[in-house]
Amino acid sequence: MPRSIYLDNAATTPVDPRVLEAMIPYYTDVYGNANSPHGMGRRANVAVEDAREMIAKLIGAQPSEIIFTSGGTESNNAAIKGVLKATGKKHVITSRVEHHAVLHPIQHAYKDGIKASYLDVKPLGFVTAQQVDLAITDETALVTLMHGNNEISSINPIAEISKVCRNKGILFHSDTVQTTGKIPVHVDDLGVDFLSISGHKIYGPKGVGILYVRNGSTWSPWMEGGSQERRRRGGTLNVPGIIGLAKAMELSITEMDANKKHISNLKSMLVSGLREKFADIVSFNGDVENGLYNIVNCSFPLDGDRSLDGEMLLLNLDIEGICCSNGSACSSGTVEASHVLMALGMVTPTAKSSLRFSIGKQNTEDDIAYTLEKLEFIVNRMKNTSMA
Ligand SMILES: Cc1ncc(COP(=O)(O)O)c(C=O)c1O
Repeated sequence: MPRSIYLDNAATTPVDPRVLEAMIPYYTDVYGNANSPHGMGRRANVAVEDAREMIAKLIGAQPSEIIFTSGGTESNNAAIKGVLKATGKKHVITSRVEHHAVLHPIQHAYKDGIKASYLDVKPLGFVTAQQVDLAITDETALVTLMHGNNEISSINPIAEISKVCRNKGILFHSDTVQTTGKIPVHVDDLGVDFLSISGHKIYGPKGVGILYVRNGSTWSPWMEGGSQERRRRGGTLNVPGIIGLAKAMELSITEMDANKKHISNLKSMLVSGLREKFADIVSFNGDVENGLYNIVNCSFPLDGDRSLDGEMLLLNLDIEGICCSNGSACSSGTVEASHVLMALGMVTPTAKSSLRFSIGKQNTEDDIAYTLEKLEFIVNRMKNTSMA
């Protein structure tokens, strides 16, 4: 039986069996539409409202501030488009390393005359509150900056940034998709007006998430349709997904300390193994010391502007049953370097030789040891071939 080692947990996680168990009755027994007035609908509705209350409590919010969505992408779109529409202002502040679910809605808004400031993140991948302060203008509608970066693990000083925004009366959204369940995410401690969460990054189901909207914020609903979610997000509620999301958030937050200890140990093992085995060739990208404890991003530059090919590294690891990723995007048949790594100031070949390992609570020391052993073999073979 070939081994299968999953080290791509920042892309998605396996569903925790306890989450699945909580969801099943809402497929098999209580399958009513949560907006239907009959008994089956009412039972579904009670479950949704209980889930909303639990989620609100876990992040220090009011239940009325939680809107269920289809995930992080929708929540980011809804926050950005909803603020631009409601404020009528024409300027957004963000960074160069945001997820495309933030960058693309902003770029799409150019056609409506929206301008954006993209804050620099060199060298470690995060911005400072001072940069935000300097970028704010009279036309600024929104500052949107992620909490933790999905590729390079860097963490933004969200609480400091929110103070600047609040002092200047600017709305602030943070994409907390990668940090929820891993480090504390509390809406008042962070000082955010909007926040995005996704279920499938925390051992919950795919296709469900939340948008937190602080009561009183200037914001218009983006997804129009039925009157669900108090007319703030049309669409039949994904009841099993919502139940699963609430359970996943409960588990990941209450078990955060134990998971953090376990995963941090595995990250230390991976980083020291990479340093030992590839001292002459490996370089780490982003904030490897102080970033999120589950992500390691590294590159394999050779000499001059040559590097080992990241796609080949990924492919060879995959053949050995090891799943990881890099941030490259395939566009028109060519592989483009990750915008996140390029924003760190890396040259294209080094950015293209990157690997991202993202560790989950299900991984073991044995997984890391096996990965290091196979990677050593693959890197040496590729190095020798490219030197020949
Ligand atoms: C930082 C970040 N934001 C947003 C998303 C999108 O979330 P979803 O897959 O739930 O749409 C992701 C997922 O890759 C992410 O890592």
